Amino acid sequence: MITHPRICPGRHLALNSLWIAIASILAVFDIEKSIGSDGEEVVPVIGFSSGITCHPLPFETSIKPRNEAARQLIERDVTEDTY
Ligand code: HEM
Repeated sequence: MITHPRICPGRHLALNSLWIAIASILAVFDIEKSIGSDGEEVVPVIGFSSGITCHPLPFETSIKPRNEAARQLIERDVTEDTY
């Protein structure tokens, strides 16, 4: 009988997948506060869900391609059948 937690054998896959996903997102997107109708930055209200899992509640933000080359790369990735 197992009486203690066992180390996750998928931890390297999980951590490396997260690293690749975050690095890929930061390479092509600028992520900033959004601008409201008054021309001022919208400061997100930070809140978390509660339950078995916990995650941030929805908030407004601005996510845009970093430049034209990044925009083309994103476009190609979503339109081309690369798999
Ligand atoms: C962010 C992603 C992941 C988290 C947070 C996570 C977390 C955990 C934790 C906390 C345990 C120990 C449970 C316990 O005994 O108390 C565990 C076990 C396990 N995980 Fe993961 N894991 C993740 C991803 C993965 C992936 C990607 C795989 C497989 C590809 C995987 C396969 C397993 C297996 C088979 C066990 C059971 C190990 C055993 O009892 O000998 N996990 N995981």
